[in-house]
Amino acid sequence: MTLSDFLGALKDNPYFGAGFGLVGVGTALALARKGAQIGMVFFRRHYMITLEVPSRDKSYHWLLSWITKHAKHTQHLSVETSYMQHESGRVRTQFDFHPSPGNHIIWYGRTWIRVERTREKQMVDLHTGTPWESVTFTAFGRNRQIFFNILQEARELALKQEEGRTVMYTAMGAEWRPFGFPRRRRPLSSVVLENGVAERIVEDVKEFISNPKWYTDRGIPYRRGYLLYGPPGCGKSSFITALAGELGYSICLMSLSDRSLSDDRLNHLLSVAPQQSIILLEDVDAAFVSRDLLPTENPMAYQGMGRLTFSGLLNALDGVASSEARIVFMTTNFIERLDPALIRPGRVDLKQYVGYCTHYQLTHMFQRFFPLESAAEGERFAAHSLAAHTELSAAQVQGHFMLYKMDPAGAIDNVAKISK
Ligand SMILES: Nc1ncnc2c1ncn2[C@@H]1O[C@H](COP(=O)(O)OP(=O)(O)O)[C@@H](O)[C@H]1O
Ligand SMILES: [Mg+2]
Repeated sequence: MTLSDFLGALKDNPYFGAGFGLVGVGTALALARKGAQIGMVFFRRHYMITLEVPSRDKSYHWLLSWITKHAKHTQHLSVETSYMQHESGRVRTQFDFHPSPGNHIIWYGRTWIRVERTREKQMVDLHTGTPWESVTFTAFGRNRQIFFNILQEARELALKQEEGRTVMYTAMGAEWRPFGFPRRRRPLSSVVLENGVAERIVEDVKEFISNPKWYTDRGIPYRRGYLLYGPPGCGKSSFITALAGELGYSICLMSLSDRSLSDDRLNHLLSVAPQQSIILLEDVDAAFVSRDLLPTENPMAYQGMGRLTFSGLLNALDGVASSEARIVFMTTNFIERLDPALIRPGRVDLKQYVGYCTHYQLTHMFQRFFPLESAAEGERFAAHSLAAHTELSAAQVQGHFMLYKMDPAGAIDNVAKISK
């Protein structure tokens, strides 16, 4: 038998040939793989640090902006479109790019950090109805300080974007979510109320905020309620927005006629409202009209879902116990429709009528709009307006001025044309 015959026989023999060789290599490979896995686990456990941030965490959105800023070169983005309608009716949209789900590598603090954004397809956050998401940061080393630094930076970045702005929150499920852009602060002086009215409220709120001790010393819950009432378009909402700006507070806007609002949810929301915010309940008179429909007209109630009851609202207002100053503003166009229980002292501590324009308001609005005109012209405008109309809202006057932007004399001469 020649050597080649021998080799040929070996090759043909299934046992010695392919079989034996493969088993050997296979075992070695499996062992190597196992070893590598164990090594990797060991390595990850001892030489890498990770931080997972779920989308429910407050810092999640800050971190997304931070990642966008640092992962400048990433080619994989997702878009978040915000849409805002200005009070004047102008609509502004803005596209915010965020890193898309997947992996991104960021160079930070002299090391590489892997950022993985994951989105669960099957899991939905029941509170908000959005897909469950998280970002995970992975870095070499053992120094957790790097994550603290990142969180800190992300927070500062977010605060900087909010500087000079008023953040609006709405209730989403069991939590408060910022909605739209933070708006540029509206100066208090741009809302012209009757002489002394704005000052009275501002003084009251500031006094309240600066005196937590007075309340704790007496065992009185540290909260204060305000009610602004009067016809529409006279500045209730605008004033509250401007006040929030003046205080550097955000606004938690809540609609009591939201059908998914139950006693429990309201209670919970009031207790978890962001710090330094004003809780704003608009049109409180409307809340219980639409709710007390027949069960057939209100399917939610019919299905036995919880819903807001009047006593639930009172309890929620009374139960707001927090060490933070809790400020609740309510507005209504019809104070006579409100149950006296809702606006008794302790729930509403200060009531203020915000009504149609007075002589004082008209002169001041004119002067603000046409700063180059003499005070006498302002007086003349006010006198003419009041002679022609008994009920003029500030919104109407503002609309009128817009028609005569460059023509103050025309604004005065045509006061009779101010339309509803
Ligand atoms: N007192 C006011 N001074 C300046 N502008 C006002 C005043 N009242 C209302 N406006 C303007 O009219 C519009 C509607 O006002 P808004 O605050 O929503 O009224 P309300 O909440 O009382 O119904 C806003 O664009 C606001 O700028
Ligand atoms: Mg309003």
